[in-house]
Amino acid sequence: MNSESEKGQFLKEFGINYGYPNAPKNIDEIRATEFKRVKDTVYLDHAGATLYSESQMEAVFKDLSSSVYGNPHSQSSCSLASEDIVGKARQQVLNFFNASPREYSCIFTSGATAALKLVGETFPWSSHSSFMYSMENHNSVLGIREYALSKGAAAFAVDIEEGTHLGESESPKSNLELTQHHIQRRSEGGVLKEGMEGNTYNLFAFPSECNFSGRKFDPNLVKIIKEESERILESSQYCRYKYKNYTLLFENSLSRGIPSTNAKFMAD
Ligand SMILES: Cc1ncc(COP(=O)(O)O)c(C=O)c1O
Repeated sequence: MNSESEKGQFLKEFGINYGYPNAPKNIDEIRATEFKRVKDTVYLDHAGATLYSESQMEAVFKDLSSSVYGNPHSQSSCSLASEDIVGKARQQVLNFFNASPREYSCIFTSGATAALKLVGETFPWSSHSSFMYSMENHNSVLGIREYALSKGAAAFAVDIEEGTHLGESESPKSNLELTQHHIQRRSEGGVLKEGMEGNTYNLFAFPSECNFSGRKFDPNLVKIIKEESERILESSQYCRYKYKNYTLLFENSLSRGIPSTNAKFMAD
């Protein structure tokens, strides 16, 4: 079978959903105009590591060749121009997630892995903390375990079982069951004995969509974890401490232009 008939076969089966059907341009038009260089290459990582389009490159070239951007940490007109454009970019990202700048900051990193590393390095782990992560998770999220364990915290995976979807007015409480897996912990020698300001901080990490299985997680999970932490941790020894649960949502739908969350469900 040649590639044209293979495509015909594929369209017969999946035609309705093929190639961004509701977008201003479908995938074939986008490839023909924006990604001519891809030609016969099959590039399967567009959702994880998006290729830059021709119009993006043209816009960047035009801007960089007509503007003078200086060191952003100074007061000259060139520096203020940099500060201005970086500030606008941060605001665009926050708008995309419906996130208020009063509650959230946008921090640019070299990629998803670097951002998760930063969380692992700076989270206020203590020997009473727990790092909880859904079984379906990204490799780089799993890396956070090492930072948690090195501070004496516990780390464990959880299975998330979801029932039928509930409307916005209904409580998501009874809709979800979390089952803990084996708890990992390193020796406690030399670890912090208390959390910051007497509190214990826990971190729960899950993806909006699993890269491997394609399973989508209900954004209500953020609210449930924050509000029902006692139920979630009831079988654990850690719930006797005064604690605060933070959620880390690994957002991997970005390059498809569909933020899976909004301010109402926002993770920390
Ligand atoms: C398949 C795949 N490609 C690329 C990336 C991007 O990773 P990074 O931004 O750390 O380079 C990810 C991360 O989610 C991924 O899962």
